[in-house]
Amino acid sequence: MDKFIIEGGRRLVGAVRISGSKNAALAIIPSVLLAPGVFRLRNTPNIRDIWTMSRLLGAMGAHCELNGSELFVDSNGVNSFEAPYEHVKKMRASINVLGPLVARFGRAKVSLPGGCAFGPRPIDLHLKGLEKLGAEIGIENGYIIANAQRLRGARIHFDISSVGATENILSAAVLADGVTTITNAAIEPEVSALAKMLVKMGAKISGIGTATLEIEGVKELHAVEEENLPDRIEAATFLIAAAITQGKIVLENVNPYHLTAVIAKMEEAGCEFDVTGPNISMELNQPPKPIDATTAPYPGFPTDVQAQWVALMLTAQGSCRATDTIYPTRFHHVPELLRLGAHIEVADNTAIIHGGRPLSGASVMSSDLRASASLILAALAAQGRSEILRVYHLDRGYENIEKKLEQLGASIQRVKTEDF
Ligand code: EPZ
Repeated sequence: MDKFIIEGGRRLVGAVRISGSKNAALAIIPSVLLAPGVFRLRNTPNIRDIWTMSRLLGAMGAHCELNGSELFVDSNGVNSFEAPYEHVKKMRASINVLGPLVARFGRAKVSLPGGCAFGPRPIDLHLKGLEKLGAEIGIENGYIIANAQRLRGARIHFDISSVGATENILSAAVLADGVTTITNAAIEPEVSALAKMLVKMGAKISGIGTATLEIEGVKELHAVEEENLPDRIEAATFLIAAAITQGKIVLENVNPYHLTAVIAKMEEAGCEFDVTGPNISMELNQPPKPIDATTAPYPGFPTDVQAQWVALMLTAQGSCRATDTIYPTRFHHVPELLRLGAHIEVADNTAIIHGGRPLSGASVMSSDLRASASLILAALAAQGRSEILRVYHLDRGYENIEKKLEQLGASIQRVKTEDF
């Protein structure tokens, strides 16, 4: 188990190149199951979740190889339709293989993903959608057993705008007989990235980027090369890293449009932005103003930035609230932030942050990906030395985070430890 040692109180200044999107890659890579051939995904981040997805597809007979930031997948050898618990327990997004397996092979055995550190993660919408497409779904010994002679198009409405369910059903509908309409579809950029990749593979999809997707099923698809999105959540995390240290940063290789809500919120707090092409410059020369944030589906303020926002508001002069409407219990970062001297109260799905108290270094424990990011951000602003334990949580979704922070002026080092 590795830990990070951070000496806080240093202003971050400089430029950083943002890596490819974890969540877009985890949406796109399972599409290789829809067609035989060699796929190439450029701008793939070299992170633990990509290794997990690659091992899962490898266990199914595909061959995956990550050369730098290019992922090659040869799906010609796919001969197993099972996603075993050993992979799914490490990464919920393994569920994204379900739709492609049923659509292409007519069968799938995928472990139920279970919950995660910040609460239950149901998949009822995924399963109901597949049943509407004609699949028979059973649950046996913790596994989803799905079978379908041939999926047939259907009208599917999601009660909740779900990223994963939209991705799974979209990936299944492209090979179904007839037309499928999905209403209240998620419109996150990662969903649109998947839809564009499927169209490149020969799928017929209209309404991309809107909450109503219409898919006309085709007989077969073919392998393609694709360029992955930049990671908007990593970008937001680095913007907040600069702001929490009252620094100045240039993000390279981002899509500013995907960060509209985050930029607007940070401007409310006093951050100054300059957006030119694929770069974003941000500067903050005084403590941020205390500004409330409430998460919402895209294009709203992302739930994946809620923990980072709570950290930033610790340095504001005054109190404010962070409300998570997507995951009401996603506050595991709070008890650890209290160890750094924070004053935060959690009531229902809201954290009330009383900023302006000095933060001082301490040892803190990572729990989930974005909570761990929040701890790093607070440690950067705290006086003295902090230790962030179990950084494998961070390695799931942030490529070379300590090297990127170091090049911005942070004092951070990775240390191997026997601690569990
Ligand atoms: C994706 O998870 C992201 N993960 C999450 O990012 C992100 O937090 C989430 O979308 C919301 O934006 C990936 O893309 C790999 P949802 P997903 O289905 O698809 C409820 C990170 O840190 N729901 O959009 O699992 C659910 O409980 C990760 O990178 C059902 O009720 O999220 C939640 O309240 C964490 N039934 C809401 O919908 C279902 O069948 C949104 O979840 C599915 C979801």
